Amino acid sequence: MPLKAELHCHIEGAAAPELVLRQARKYDADPAPFIRDGAFVWHNFTSFLAAYDFSADLFRSEDDYVLLADHYLTSLARDGAVYSEIFISPDHAKKAGLSPKAYTDALGEGISRARAKTGIEGRMIVTGVRHFGVDAVEQAARFAARSGNPLVAGFGLAGDERIGDYEDFVRAFEIAREAGLGITVHAGELTGWESVAAALDHLRPARIGHGVRAVENPDLVRRIADLGVVLECCPGSNVALGVFPDFASHPLPALRAAGCKVTLNSDDPPYFRTSLKREYEIAAEHFAMNEKALAALTRIAIEAAFVDRRTKSALLARLDRPAR
Ligand code: ADE
Ligand code: ZN
Repeated sequence: MPLKAELHCHIEGAAAPELVLRQARKYDADPAPFIRDGAFVWHNFTSFLAAYDFSADLFRSEDDYVLLADHYLTSLARDGAVYSEIFISPDHAKKAGLSPKAYTDALGEGISRARAKTGIEGRMIVTGVRHFGVDAVEQAARFAARSGNPLVAGFGLAGDERIGDYEDFVRAFEIAREAGLGITVHAGELTGWESVAAALDHLRPARIGHGVRAVENPDLVRRIADLGVVLECCPGSNVALGVFPDFASHPLPALRAAGCKVTLNSDDPPYFRTSLKREYEIAAEHFAMNEKALAALTRIAIEAAFVDRRTKSALLARLDRPAR
C-alpha cells in the first residue's frame, strides 16, 4: 500500500463507538438509541445525523477534543497517512458548551501531539452546517477568518444538502475567501448533479466534498475536469448511505477516466464501517487500482491540500522517498 493522505473527514464523525461510550459514561448520558453492540445505529441520512449530533455533544471539554484529534490522527498515521485535513464544526462546540476558539485550539493541540509522535501533518477546515441556517454558516465563516490558529487552513459547507440553496451561502464564502482560506463545499452526495453545478456557480470551491453525482451530467464532468476542481470522494460512505447500491456502481472510476481529479476519504469512518486504509483497499479491490494508481491519488490529495507551499513540498518529497 502506498502512503496515504486524507482531505475529507469530519472529526466528530471520526470518534469510534468505544470512545463515545467512554464519553457517555463520563457525562452520564444514555447511548442506548445510538450505539448498540459496539456499533453506531442509524438507517438513513437523517438518523445518521442524529447519531452524529448525539456523539458530538459528548465532547465538551478542551481535553476531550485534544484526545479526539490526537486519537484520530495517530491512528491514521499508523495506517500509513502522512497528511490529514479534518472538518471541524464550531456550532457543535457551542452546543456542547465550549467556545469556538477553545474548541479549535484544543483540536490544534491534538493535531500537534499526533505530529510529534508520528510525523503526520494536519490542518483544520472550519465548516458551516447548512441545516443550522445561513446566519450560523456566516458566523462560522467569520470565526474561520479570524480564528488566529495557524492550523486553520480552509472553510467548508457540510450538513444536509437538501436544506437551503448554495446561493444563500455566497456571503459566508466571500468572507472565507477574503481571509485567504481554501474553499471546499459538500455537493452531489444526497442531491443530484444540479447541486454540484450550483456549488461551482455560486461558491467557486477549489474542491467539492463528494461531488460524485456530477457523473449524471457529462457536460458538468467536463467542466470539473477543465477547472481542475478536486473531488473528495468517499466511496464507503456513499455505499453505506445508499447513494450508490454497491461499489460496482460507484462513479469514481468513470470520473477519473474523464480526467477529474479524485481523492479517497473516509468521511465519518466508524459510522460507515470504514477507514482511510479501507478506502484504499476498496479502490484496489473494486476499482482495479494498482499501487501506482493509488499513489497517484495520494499525490493529487497533497497537491490539493490547503497547506503552505513549504509543507506541501516537504510532503511531496516524502511521497517520492523509497519505502523503508
Ligand atoms: N456531516 C457529517 N458527515 C456528513 C456527510 N456525509 N454529508 C454532509 N454533512 C456531513
Ligand atoms: Zn462529509
